[in-house]
Amino acid sequence: MANENNFAELIAHCKEYGYIFQSSEIYDGLAAVYDYGQNGAQLKKNIRDYWWKSMTQLHDNIVGIDAAIFMHPTTWKASGHVDNFSDPMIDNKDSNKRYRVDHLIEGFAEEQKAAGKEQLAEDVLNKMDALLAKDDFAGLKQLIDDNKIKCAISKTCNWTDVRQFNLMFSTQFGATAEAESIVYLRPETAQGIFVNFLNVQKTGRMKIPFGIAQTGKAFRNEIVARQFIFRMREFEQMEMQFFIRPGSQMEWYNFWKAERKKWHESIGIPAEKLRFHDHVKLAHYADAAVDIEFEFPFGWKELEGIHSRTDFDLKQHQEYSRKKIQYFDNDLDENGKAYGNYTPYVVETSVGLDRLFLTILSLAYQEEKWNKEDGTEDSRVVLKIPAKIAPTKLAILPLLKKDGLPEIARELMNDCKQSFQCFYEEKDAIGKRYRRMDAIGTPFCVTIDHQTKEDDTVTIRYRDTMAQERVALADVKKIIEEKIK
Ligand code: GAP
Repeated sequence: MANENNFAELIAHCKEYGYIFQSSEIYDGLAAVYDYGQNGAQLKKNIRDYWWKSMTQLHDNIVGIDAAIFMHPTTWKASGHVDNFSDPMIDNKDSNKRYRVDHLIEGFAEEQKAAGKEQLAEDVLNKMDALLAKDDFAGLKQLIDDNKIKCAISKTCNWTDVRQFNLMFSTQFGATAEAESIVYLRPETAQGIFVNFLNVQKTGRMKIPFGIAQTGKAFRNEIVARQFIFRMREFEQMEMQFFIRPGSQMEWYNFWKAERKKWHESIGIPAEKLRFHDHVKLAHYADAAVDIEFEFPFGWKELEGIHSRTDFDLKQHQEYSRKKIQYFDNDLDENGKAYGNYTPYVVETSVGLDRLFLTILSLAYQEEKWNKEDGTEDSRVVLKIPAKIAPTKLAILPLLKKDGLPEIARELMNDCKQSFQCFYEEKDAIGKRYRRMDAIGTPFCVTIDHQTKEDDTVTIRYRDTMAQERVALADVKKIIEEKIK
């Protein structure tokens, strides 16, 4: 797995092997915006498909939608984002650098921990949590002053007061530049689900409890955007809103908490690299919230949020749209009485696709060294991405560019490419080709050599162990299908 010492190498590897590029790199890039290359786009799609299938196909009470990024501006007034979607920030007057207050204090605490002052670090973090929970900005400023927290650039403590900054991007909608034509780029996909609650419930004849899932882009003007694709200004979310009876929210909250952790393990994340972190300061819409955290190379950080959102969003949209948004439940309660009309409660699961991508790559990235039989050292960089989500499943490699070997290889490629992603290559020595496939994360390579022409067998080579075995050419497709299931 990548660690804090080789995280820069992982980033360089992502660029070198077509996973992730800085956006608009030829113009020196755009901060905290990234493009996915040929391998990255395929891996991202495989992760998204895996999530989509497990949410919609494997749960018969969850359906998927694809709402537009642009939404009526009142959506964001109703949801509370216009008034509340902001972070406390502070500026250093000497460097003009702006910091998110929690990040500034957390960074200070990390430094204290590294210097062996664990108690001080813990005290500062506890005080910060308490002040954030009360929105006590003067208290946060005092905490920064008392601890003489410095700006990383100017190295001074010359700070402004703590202020709130809204994180939504806005743009003009239509041909005129009047105030009423301002729309926002959605900061979460969830609202597209809430405003479609009745459409989906009625047209899908959905009965509570049921869920609506969606994947799509979200945009936030993050002030401190760093750590590669961990915190981006344009990113993708995979969210599911689960609509339930009022009063049952803790039961479903605990259900989805366990279910989502299990799902992350099923995609190959070891249980010991995941943990729950309960929110101290709840978002304006939540009555309970927890993060599933992953131990990234730069520490434990949020991977997914699970929130009990009460009936806040549906009630708000009902009020602002003046349309009745309710559900009629004709099931009977324990006293034999129909539940009747109510505004459903919601438990939400929300995971960042890019963060999950980074999780998977961090785990997969390995620098290996070993001694060969002749005593010399050999090494490789390999991406041990789980086979079921690897961008390319099988590399088909004729040993030579002649003697009819490419023809056999092409035939195998044509047979397999309908079923899974294959890659064909006939250039360079076979060892070099294997190393390139290791670096891209291709779990299986098949080599066609002269023996293939004699006995219809090929060599299959396994990325993780580098073991090789001889198998029948006719069995290759079946073997790979079995392994990526
Ligand atoms: N609808 C609820 C919601 O948006 P959130 O905790 O703000 O909740 C959910 O975001 C998930 O989206 C996070 O757990 C994270 O994985 C991802 N995410 C949020 N902001 C992000 C950013 N700036 N860059 C990348 N991923 C982000």
